[in-house]
Amino acid sequence: MNCFYNPVNTIQGAGSINKIPDLLNNTSLENKNVLLIAWTEDIFELPFVKEIKDSGYNLSEICFKESNPTVNQLFEVYQDTKSINPSVVIAVGGGSIMDVGKSLCCIYSKEISDVDELRNIIKEKDFCENKTHWIGVPTTAGTGSEVTCWATIWDPEKNIKSSVESKDNYALYAVVDSDLIVEMPKKLAVSSALDAVAHAVESYWAKSTNGVSRALALNAIRLIMSNIDGLIDGDIKSYEKISLGSMMAGMAFSNTKTTACHSISYPLTMHYNIPHGTAVSMLLAPVLKLNQESIEDVKYLFDALGVENADSLALRVNSLLEKVGLPYKLSGWNVEKNNIPNLAKMGITKGRADNNPTDINEEIIITVLNQIF
Ligand SMILES: NC(=O)c1ccc[n+]([C@@H]2O[C@H](COP(=O)([O-])OP(=O)(O)OC[C@H]3O[C@@H](n4cnc5c(N)ncnc54)[C@H](O)[C@@H]3O)[C@@H](O)[C@H]2O)c1
Ligand SMILES: [Zn+2]
Repeated sequence: MNCFYNPVNTIQGAGSINKIPDLLNNTSLENKNVLLIAWTEDIFELPFVKEIKDSGYNLSEICFKESNPTVNQLFEVYQDTKSINPSVVIAVGGGSIMDVGKSLCCIYSKEISDVDELRNIIKEKDFCENKTHWIGVPTTAGTGSEVTCWATIWDPEKNIKSSVESKDNYALYAVVDSDLIVEMPKKLAVSSALDAVAHAVESYWAKSTNGVSRALALNAIRLIMSNIDGLIDGDIKSYEKISLGSMMAGMAFSNTKTTACHSISYPLTMHYNIPHGTAVSMLLAPVLKLNQESIEDVKYLFDALGVENADSLALRVNSLLEKVGLPYKLSGWNVEKNNIPNLAKMGITKGRADNNPTDINEEIIITVLNQIF
């Protein structure tokens, strides 16, 4: 059976950020308080910000510059902004900022006194009824977080990656403006584009896949893989295509979640600071090799990726990473070979590993990690 649900209003295209004041004006809101959380102060200088203020909203502005938000950082932002009592949070940034913005909407109505209480709320999914809406405005392309209902919040102290997940917490709007991604450093551009490819590829082969996700996934993969060289060369048309592809990949996996590549990648990011997209992309080819007998219509997947087989995918991904100076082997990220069994143990994430079309266990993950060592 093919079931698909995604309630996010999407507005995609160069200049779409300028629509935000109208979107606010056309939404019935509890109050006029709006929180704008952005990855850089430069965002506060854009014309849409002045227009929001001129329309009579009480706009509070904060910057959040960290990557891979932790539970401690989320608690800090919650403490700093709860008294604003916003009816809308506008999150302008990469996956990290959007994940903070959407998580805040799940906890604002709770009185949380310390980080452990927040940890417990996340663990028990004891979120508040969402009174606060959020608008996702990605500046990377990307995580697709603007169209998913979960946020990744890292907890290095407890050695876990947790998910703030609530079906009531889809964004009111995803405003996907390709003008915002043109200044991305090339490493971030390639890493986040390959993250989007992994979302689509994993959505295509996930146990929980469906016909709508698969159609979105193939289109997303084709758009990104055929424009990623243009992105590296700074071709403006490619940014527009990658930005659309990333959002479509997000739509695809919003209904299927990801699988082994994401599951195995989490400890690599947490313990060795391998950027999220780079870590998942290194795992794409070895996991494809593992899965390929179990993937329905695998030929369409190869065709969209523009490769003949898993080995040629490995060469393609490696050359893209190499072109922008990102190591494509674990050794290049200072991973110690004798830590591989430990990483394999941590690489089994519930909801992701068991969504892979073939069974994976620690032994299989060790083999996969050795292949990319
Ligand atoms: N919720 C989801 O569905 C989902 C999906 C995939 C990944 N994620 C999470 O998203 C995070 C990674 O997000 P990301 O890859 O977008 O990177 P990021 O948001 O962590 O950004 C990386 C760095 O680049 C900066 N940055 C952002 N936009 C920029 C721009 N246009 N130009 C220059 N610098 C910019 C950020 O401030 C940050 O320091 C991870 O925590 C990952 O787990 C979430
Ligand atoms: Zn991802």
